[in-house]
Amino acid sequence: MDKMVILSGNSNKELSAKISKELKAKPADIMATRFSDGEIRVKIEDNVRGKDVFVIQSNCPPVNENIMELLIIIDALKRASANRITAVIPYFGYARQDRKDQPRVPITAKLVANLLTVAGASRVLTLDLHAGQVQGFFDIPLDHLFAINVFVDYFKKLKLNNLVIVSPDVGGIKMARAYAKKFRAGLAIVDKRRNTPEATEVMHILGEVKGKNVILVDDIIATGSSLVEAAKALKEAGAKNIFAAISHGILSANAVEKLENSDIDYLVITDSIPLGEEKKSKKIKVVSVSKLFAEAIRRIHFEQSISVLFDSIRR
Ligand code: R5P
Repeated sequence: MDKMVILSGNSNKELSAKISKELKAKPADIMATRFSDGEIRVKIEDNVRGKDVFVIQSNCPPVNENIMELLIIIDALKRASANRITAVIPYFGYARQDRKDQPRVPITAKLVANLLTVAGASRVLTLDLHAGQVQGFFDIPLDHLFAINVFVDYFKKLKLNNLVIVSPDVGGIKMARAYAKKFRAGLAIVDKRRNTPEATEVMHILGEVKGKNVILVDDIIATGSSLVEAAKALKEAGAKNIFAAISHGILSANAVEKLENSDIDYLVITDSIPLGEEKKSKKIKVVSVSKLFAEAIRRIHFEQSISVLFDSIRR
């Protein structure tokens, strides 16, 4: 372990501290501040020559600041002769911009992948990408973790019967199917249309939900529209209690207020993105993915397979 170095950017220090604790590793000293004009100022305070470095940084809001900070840290590590640099990105932002679905739009997820590679990342470790295909945007190794087992452990304790797993849109079917299999539960799908980036409309519900307990599963909650609209339609269709398990709690705009006034009993998110004080709510529970990341980092460092962490949930 003396060759392993854990470093944290500013985006998610709480998760970084938990991962370091799990690994019984003291995070390396780093200065990551700002010059008076806003430019990012980085200095790695510890020697990293020849080391196996893991930089932990989520691409959560402020997204552009956090991505730029990560790129600059990687550049500093490369120039300090680190042997291998793994970008540990618990939440990979810009992943929803992964294809040209309209004329004259960028594929920003690919741009971010290029930036990380050019900066000097040797590999990437991330969690619940918006679409698995984003892995193909990288020509360096990428390990993709899933939060499903963390959520399953949480919900199994509630001993919910008569359960149905619901995807709030057709794009999430594969994810929902994996959850349904794990819970040995039914599967239903909400046919959602997105009218604007902030507003969605439910067209149909495919599957049986009447009198059932529901867990809505998704990768991201941003404005909360998809989730809240889906819950409303499910309630109207006779669903009993409605819970949600969502990997990345961006909770932008007035998502928390919407959630509090919704038909959802409560939402469970991971700590891939820190939940700011202002977003704390009785309706939001947080489960940690620190153990999952720590074990993946340990296995990558010792060149061991990490597939044992997700073999049964590949989708
Ligand atoms: C969409 O494809 C994603 O899986 C999420 O459903 C979506 O990004 C959530 O966004 P919002 O909370 O703004 O509806």
